[in-house]
Amino acid sequence: MENRIRYWRRARGLSQEALGKMIGLGKPTISKLERGDLRLRDVTIAKLVDALGVPANELLGDYAAGVGEARAAEAGAGDAGAAHFGFRRVAVEDKARLVRDVFSSVASRYDLMNDLMSLGVHRLWKAEMIDWLRPTPRMRAVDVAGGTGDIAIRIVERAGGDGGGVIVCDANESMLAVGRDRALDRGVTRGIDWLCGDAEALPLGDASIDAYTIAFGIRNVTRIDRALAEARRVLRPGGRFLCLEFSRLVVPALVPLYEAYSFNLLPALGAAVTGDREAYQYLVESIRRFPAQDDFAALIEAAGLGNVRFRNLTGGVAALHSAWRI
Ligand SMILES: C[S@@+](CC[C@H](N)C(=O)[O-])C[C@H]1O[C@@H](n2cnc3c(N)ncnc32)[C@H](O)[C@@H]1O
Repeated sequence: MENRIRYWRRARGLSQEALGKMIGLGKPTISKLERGDLRLRDVTIAKLVDALGVPANELLGDYAAGVGEARAAEAGAGDAGAAHFGFRRVAVEDKARLVRDVFSSVASRYDLMNDLMSLGVHRLWKAEMIDWLRPTPRMRAVDVAGGTGDIAIRIVERAGGDGGGVIVCDANESMLAVGRDRALDRGVTRGIDWLCGDAEALPLGDASIDAYTIAFGIRNVTRIDRALAEARRVLRPGGRFLCLEFSRLVVPALVPLYEAYSFNLLPALGAAVTGDREAYQYLVESIRRFPAQDDFAALIEAAGLGNVRFRNLTGGVAALHSAWRI
């Protein structure tokens, strides 16, 4: 129990002081709780559950099994047959369908919601991704979990020419349909192929791609390790991997504000705009379960990609990970 508090506090990017403030305890008390020098009353457990955004059974289970399981789920491996859908444990074979339902439900309002919930900041993050990628006219790219084509359209517009082009590969037909219409509206009639497929089993040949991008997608796949292995497989030697994903705040002072926004305002906004509160509750929970910057960098390296680096965006609200197939 005690070590689980430490594990989840760190996973949430909280200092002992910040967690203490959130639940009305001093730093020394948090320290004692983490060392196991202090017994917990039910009321403290309830406050910890609230503050850490972790179900009570995650905090109360056996430490060794719990952390291993949490890490494995975050890595996408899960224990035999288990995965997470937000904070909920679900069967591995159910997760993809649950995720598909989320995006089918919000597809038509997905882009509007992105602008509203980030106040347009997601555009700056995506611009930074494209800057780091530096698309060239002959570059052949795949944008995995590319949804409504935001990244692909930017790549094509930046690259210019009639060269390599971009394949948008996404598991959801509704998102792809919105993307196709949107590209036409933007006057992008060439250079993008729209493909329905799974990040864990890409319908692409080995070493066939110069650049693999994935923005706010990898958090949703069931087995992140498999998706990363696929990224390596389809990249040619010397090919580039770039992943934009929500991450952990590195500015502790922002944490309480961010938490309040995420768990209260965001699902309410989602409900008002898309009529689907649950979809945005899932978004918040899936962000919390996704590995922190360093841990994700380690997963990328474990998949056999090299020269892994990352940049924090907006104080770690998001992070951009870069790697190469060497
Ligand atoms: C949050 S949206 C991101 C869309 C787009 N990349 C963007 O940045 O706006 C996540 C997308 O991941 C897709 N997705 C989820 N699981 C997937 C999987 N296993 N394989 C491919 N796409 C997946 C969803 O259908 C959805 O379109």
